[in-house]
Amino acid sequence: MVHLEELNKYNVWDVIELTVKKEQESFIAGNEWSLVHAYVGNKTEGAVYPFGIIDDDKAVGFLMIAYDYGEVCNDPDAPEISDNNYFLWRLMIDGEEQGKGYGRKAVELALEFVKTFPHGKADYCWLCYDKNNEVARKLYLSMGFQEIGEQDDDINAVIKL
Ligand SMILES: CC(C)(COP(=O)(O)OP(=O)(O)OC[C@H]1O[C@@H](n2cnc3c(N)ncnc32)[C@H](O)[C@@H]1OP(=O)(O)O)[C@@H](O)C(=O)NCCC(=O)NCCS
Repeated sequence: MVHLEELNKYNVWDVIELTVKKEQESFIAGNEWSLVHAYVGNKTEGAVYPFGIIDDDKAVGFLMIAYDYGEVCNDPDAPEISDNNYFLWRLMIDGEEQGKGYGRKAVELALEFVKTFPHGKADYCWLCYDKNNEVARKLYLSMGFQEIGEQDDDINAVIKL
């Protein structure tokens, strides 16, 4: 069964080694970098949630959610939608495991988690993706996200909670 597991001393090494396909590398930071961001964000605000995407006991992907991303990560370029909302900051499925439905299930589980409002109430969950990332775009739009604008090479999209 596919589920999200908070990263811990048992699963972290399997998750950190997962990688996307070569041609997708520019779409996302490596998982080890994401954990640096999580560490720093959690030092100041405690509002970053890194999860392994686990099928039974096999790590197949990684995702990370943040609340009030611009504030937590001291990012002056964060879009306005990041204020007091949840951000599906990172999502990756290992290159060997893609195309099996894990990505869609992971977004469903991420939204379920966000709707428990772990860091306080919010109206929206937002995310962003490279404008050339057609697979991600199709996935998110098919799940109800709506595009709200472009920033640098990324498209921002949002779903009402
Ligand atoms: C985007 C990503 C998470 C999707 O994960 P996945 O497990 O392969 O996706 P799924 O198997 O759940 O498929 C979900 C949808 O994606 C689309 N999709 C998946 N693989 C595809 C492909 N090779 N070509 C076109 N569309 C594809 C389909 O629309 C599919 O919809 P369906 O369920 O109606 O068939 C994965 O491709 C990935 O990790 N990419 C690299 C990192 C990345 O880009 N992350 C997103 C950053 S914002």
